[in-house]
Amino acid sequence: MTEVYELECIKCKERYPKDEILYVCRRCGGLLDVKYDYSAVNVDEIDACVGKIGERAALGGVWRFRELLPFSEEVSPVSIGEGNTPLYRCERLGKKLGVELFVKHEGLNPTGSFKDRGMTVGVTKALELGVRGVACASTGNTSASLAVFAARASLPCYVLLPKGKVALGKLAQAIMHGAKVFSLQGNFDDALRVVIEFCEQENVYLLNSVNPFRLEGQKTIAFEIALQLTLGDVVGGSSEHSVQKSRDYWEVPDRVVLPVGNAGNISAIFKGFVELKTLGLTESIPKMTGIQAEGAAPIVHAFKSGAEEITPVEHPETIATAIRIGNPVNAPKALHAIKSSDGYAEAVSDAEITAAQIELARYEGIGVEPASASSFAGLKKLVEAGIVERDESVVCIATGNLLKDPERAVSVCEAPIEVPASVEALKKAIAAQHH
Ligand code: F0G
Repeated sequence: MTEVYELECIKCKERYPKDEILYVCRRCGGLLDVKYDYSAVNVDEIDACVGKIGERAALGGVWRFRELLPFSEEVSPVSIGEGNTPLYRCERLGKKLGVELFVKHEGLNPTGSFKDRGMTVGVTKALELGVRGVACASTGNTSASLAVFAARASLPCYVLLPKGKVALGKLAQAIMHGAKVFSLQGNFDDALRVVIEFCEQENVYLLNSVNPFRLEGQKTIAFEIALQLTLGDVVGGSSEHSVQKSRDYWEVPDRVVLPVGNAGNISAIFKGFVELKTLGLTESIPKMTGIQAEGAAPIVHAFKSGAEEITPVEHPETIATAIRIGNPVNAPKALHAIKSSDGYAEAVSDAEITAAQIELARYEGIGVEPASASSFAGLKKLVEAGIVERDESVVCIATGNLLKDPERAVSVCEAPIEVPASVEALKKAIAAQHH
């Protein structure tokens, strides 16, 4: 719907026409952002979502917010029914921590991660631009999502995965859906470096989060959270949380906590909240709080030391393979999001991640992969440190599904107990459990 947009360098502000295939600024190498003329945006059409009226509202998911996506009315989306993920109220864990806790379960997207929101926009853009094929480097989820969307769009798809460091469920998706999968002898950062050059040389469209259009899809997480809180469209718990505190504004939480790898998602969600405020739909912006694994925490180091830029981590290591990234390409956008929203950045250990994964699974029935559990692990740590205040309303983003990494889940849980095929044997085995 929004045809009036350009690409702008976040550093030197150089502008580029919308149909130019470009991932970083040609002049200074800075990241690009999609810039709209907000005065041309039909705010009433977006606000109609609250009343669940109108054509857009009926669409649901990412494309209900088409007013804030970079396409003309004629373009038809490549969609697999992404978005519309539930926002869970988590009373048990919230009470334990003393905060009002919600989890936005992005692992319930069609391919099991939030990447689908970015890919529906990115692959629709790829078809509009008429590219020969699509490609990405990935710790797994991006490749799984891209493989599915490429199949729907009949586009050749190339993915580079760090050898031996991709969870089984993700690999299964990428190969089953027909991507050409390469196992790169190196880590994610090496894979990204190689795929960027490959795309430039071969006229293949790059769909890592350095592609600014992908982030336009992912910013709809912010829109959905605000909409769900405003409508009281929350799963579980008592409904003392107001359906609508004020009809004048959409509601936002005090804080959003999420895992950070290549740092695209935190940048995208921040942009979404900024847009809602710019359009006069909300009054404030949640504190954007990024969590990294201790062995892969360049953004946390930069934030805590007050450095303007990150120092890449040479050999990133964590069991949360999705965020095993040492040189996040979107770091400048992420640091800006964290600082200008009065947010925070924290690192968590692999043991803390595992504990959080088990707590979410057993206290709230929310099954997530390790990287996704880092958000809750980080929140716990920040509450203990007094950085997150009691009674804050907090939304943790669960970025990926438990089934993505079945091997890890099996390795950290109790093994099934083998029993002979008789009721007596079963009862005996259960009784033995209680001793
Ligand atoms: N959580 C999960 C489950 C992820 O797969 C990723 C990133 C992140 C969090 C971090 O998001 O990169 O936007 O900061 N996965 C990418 C991939 C790198 O290739 O699937 P980010």
